[in-house]
Amino acid sequence: MKEPVILNHPLIKHKISILRSKKTGTKEFRELISEISTFLCYEATKDAKLEDVEIETPIQKTVGKKLNEDNYAFIPILRAGTGMLDGLIKAIPNAKIGHIGLYRNEETLKPVKYYYKVPKNLAEREVIVLDPMLATGGSGSDAIKMLKEDGAKNIKFLCIIAAPEGIKRIQTEHPDVQIYCATLDEKLNENGYIMPGLGDAGDRIFGTK
Ligand code: PRP
Ligand code: URA
Repeated sequence: MKEPVILNHPLIKHKISILRSKKTGTKEFRELISEISTFLCYEATKDAKLEDVEIETPIQKTVGKKLNEDNYAFIPILRAGTGMLDGLIKAIPNAKIGHIGLYRNEETLKPVKYYYKVPKNLAEREVIVLDPMLATGGSGSDAIKMLKEDGAKNIKFLCIIAAPEGIKRIQTEHPDVQIYCATLDEKLNENGYIMPGLGDAGDRIFGTK
């Protein structure tokens, strides 16, 4: 079981406060989700393997390091996970992208699958699942299960806000998966919303409420 990596940095704390505020509008909300996601990507690629590459500067030949960008697969969970995507693509522009469509049934809180399309050869890739909210953990856990059934072996889960309940569920059902979150909140309310949270991430990213 892996302990979650939590971005304990003043810049992140500052951005999360603006993100949480109900006064923050759609444009700024989207921008903040994207910016925080870039920082999550930075953290999640700290262990990335690099290859040597020969380069020639204007002064001399030297050996630099190169990331095999094609090796990465970013998998946003629809809808809200797509809000994180451009923040990651800024860091690794050549990553492959898959989509998993899930929504939470509002009464049972259980995830319902409606779409699944992912890159080939997942077994050889670094698979990074994106969803801003890890609440009960049902959506994240189901998405990871689907990816494992397709061969994925190296999976990381990136979220902006996690609840302890969601972290525990992923740790129990997928002890091999490393979670990265920008902040860890207190708990869930009776409707399965994260407290204090930021409300419904999908609605705030897409302006649907
Ligand atoms: C939200 C969120 C996660 C899920 C988290 O999606 O983006 O996917 O809920 O909850 P869980 O950890 O309890 O499963 P939602 O179902 O609202 O769909 P949306 O992204 O289309 O708005
Ligand atoms: N999904 C959200 O968008 N927000 C929550 O607080 C919980 C699940």
